[in-house]
Amino acid sequence: MAGHDSTIYRSSTTAPVNIAVIKYWGKRDETLNLPTNSSLSVTLSQADLRAHTTASCSDSYPHAQGDTLTLNGTPQDIRASKRTLACLSDLRILRRALEDANPSLPRLSAFPLRIVSENNFPTAAGLASSAAGFAALVRAVADLYELPQSPSELSRIARQGSGSACRSLMGGYVAWRAGSKGDGSDSIAEQVAPAGHWPEMRALILVVSAAKKDVPSTKGMQSTFTTSTLFPTRAKSIVPERMAAMETAIRNWDFKSFAEITMRDSNNFHATCLDTWPPIFYINDVSRAAINLVHEVNRIAGKAICAYTFDAGPNAVIYYLEKDSMQVLGTFRQILKPETEGWGGVEPVRDLMDGLMATSTGSMEKLAAGVNRVILTGVGEGPEKVKNHLVSETGEILIGSGN
Ligand code: PMV
Repeated sequence: MAGHDSTIYRSSTTAPVNIAVIKYWGKRDETLNLPTNSSLSVTLSQADLRAHTTASCSDSYPHAQGDTLTLNGTPQDIRASKRTLACLSDLRILRRALEDANPSLPRLSAFPLRIVSENNFPTAAGLASSAAGFAALVRAVADLYELPQSPSELSRIARQGSGSACRSLMGGYVAWRAGSKGDGSDSIAEQVAPAGHWPEMRALILVVSAAKKDVPSTKGMQSTFTTSTLFPTRAKSIVPERMAAMETAIRNWDFKSFAEITMRDSNNFHATCLDTWPPIFYINDVSRAAINLVHEVNRIAGKAICAYTFDAGPNAVIYYLEKDSMQVLGTFRQILKPETEGWGGVEPVRDLMDGLMATSTGSMEKLAAGVNRVILTGVGEGPEKVKNHLVSETGEILIGSGN
């Protein structure tokens, strides 16, 4: 190599959160993060929730220190994170192949990486950030290395960071195909439809708890996989049928089917958690109040206008269509405490309240007592390359640079 290259190479990206409507739960291979079943999610708008990551590398960074990662201003012990190491190692291999094929390229694969990441989630939102975080990390390093791989090909790498991260490399409606090969080469994400196909999809997130989950997802899903008697049926027949039905619903803008499959799949996933031995509880009484109220709102409205889903925690994500915004948001605005944060200009709507008062005062009280914040968002686009870097031209880490 000709002399010392002191250039600071940088690339930055933002990446979205996704919330599954058919849940991933269970690994057939823990090291490669291969799932027992396929899953499908909606990518949420980065205007509301996103990770912002700068990947930089330079021959002038201390080689002895190796790669570094700073997350929300705190240096991380990258060597302790097998998942991060797996992603970086795969990305380096791809870069090295480019360099070997074209010796005029700078040998970036030999330089230490300095990666800085921040997310814009409201503090205390209690939302899982790993999907957006790993998707942003993989996308930023892939851009830094000028890799030609498609988002689907990169999803194979991001999957090793966090399973659900593979779905955050694309916008809109995204399936993660479980695949069947032992090496995981066919376990990748694919876009079912872009955000623009069904842009009216909105999400209301009821933040029930900001606490860290009691049982981390990897531990929880392994325990379900090995002990739940319901789980094999879920993985073998329930999910495959639902994947097909959900894709049809999305293709046909069929919210009624989308809503029913979404709610049934969330319930089925949480049933396998309850059936785990010893049982795991992710949803709580406040979550159950949200479930009751969504069913009651739909019953009183005379059709499905909203659908709940819960990940490995008690926060409710309620999908609805733009045209029903006033009724869905207005009703939950009316039910929750007036001081609940995050409503913006949403006004309470009383249309459905008489019906709800007749059947659901207990659920309404429980929900009001348990929710202090909401997040209003909707379907959105995949990762975006940005010029706002979190590492300066001279290699310094820039914290809180406006995200
Ligand atoms: O990607 P992980 O390991 O954090 O697991 C995510 C699991 C669920 O959020 C419960 C379901 C899903 O498909 O996102």
